[in-house]
Amino acid sequence: MRVLFTGGSGKAGKHVVAYLAAAGHRVVNVDRVPLNHPGVHDVLADITDAGQMFSVMSGHAGYDELDQGAAKPFDAVVHFAAIPRLMMCADTETYRVNVVGTYNVIEAAVKLGIRKILIASSETTYGVCFSEGVVDPKVLPLEEDYDIDPMDSYGMSKKVNEVTARSFQRRSGFDIYALRIGNVIEPHEYATVFPPLKDDPGLRRRITFSYIDARDLGQIVDLCLKKDGLGYQVFNAVNDTNSVPQENAELLKRFFPNVPLSREVGPNESLLSNRKIREVLGFKEQHNWRQYVM
Ligand SMILES: NC(=O)c1ccc[n+]([C@@H]2O[C@H](COP(=O)([O-])OP(=O)(O)OC[C@H]3O[C@@H](n4cnc5c(N)ncnc54)[C@H](O)[C@@H]3O)[C@@H](O)[C@H]2O)c1
Repeated sequence: MRVLFTGGSGKAGKHVVAYLAAAGHRVVNVDRVPLNHPGVHDVLADITDAGQMFSVMSGHAGYDELDQGAAKPFDAVVHFAAIPRLMMCADTETYRVNVVGTYNVIEAAVKLGIRKILIASSETTYGVCFSEGVVDPKVLPLEEDYDIDPMDSYGMSKKVNEVTARSFQRRSGFDIYALRIGNVIEPHEYATVFPPLKDDPGLRRRITFSYIDARDLGQIVDLCLKKDGLGYQVFNAVNDTNSVPQENAELLKRFFPNVPLSREVGPNESLLSNRKIREVLGFKEQHNWRQYVM
């Protein structure tokens, strides 16, 4: 597929773009800074500028396409560009860039007839991660039908983006899928992030102990590109198990003693559930943390 990818120069995007390119997709990276990945054309543009989004989405995927005459529409847009967490800049700026940027990207894609759109939402929409105080989820495991209720500007921006996506899906009938991405782990991070969790699993309470390997996130995006006809969908994007060695019986007792369970959970099953991507998309994780942490 010819895929326009926003935010491909970032932490998650660079691994997902590499996965998509290796899987045979023609990828254009739209970001404020270049990625410089072989075979991937970089276009510098700002997602908060609607004109630029319409322009890049109606352009060529590389110089070789000039010979073909007028540009063809892209087959898909994958939108990752964002301010990716709280407290990186003013709350107002986080909200503005993420909400306006996502509106611009989805509107341009829909009006240009691009029928597959994926957006990066976040686990923070569940209202625990960046909340003030020590907050319990209403129920565990966290599944996609949860009444998401973030209280911070970043989580709010991602919840609003899901609303925007759903509205544009109703208007267009196209496929628009939102990925509630968990904490992204790059290959080099296993050596530093995971060893301290053995003695201090509480470090990961705010993300209900979950994670997503950046390369497995590439697989999830590729599966979404291949799966047509689902309309508006939300998918949690995390690996199969928790990121800490302690089993759920202990974690639930120590960290979530008052939280009800909606169903039984496996001993190490991720409390941010990835059941839907396994059942609907056929996701099979390739990079469990236990392969990389002694
Ligand atoms: N990293 C995580 O653990 C995590 C978890 C959940 C969700 N997410 C989401 O996944 C996506 C990618 O996150 P990441 O960790 O790779 O973030 P990142 O900051 O590393 O990458 C984001 C990219 O977006 C680009 N960008 C920012 N503002 C832009 C603008 N106005 N116009 C064009 N490009 C712009 C940046 O240059 C950067 O390359 C984001 O939407 C983020 O909210 C990330």
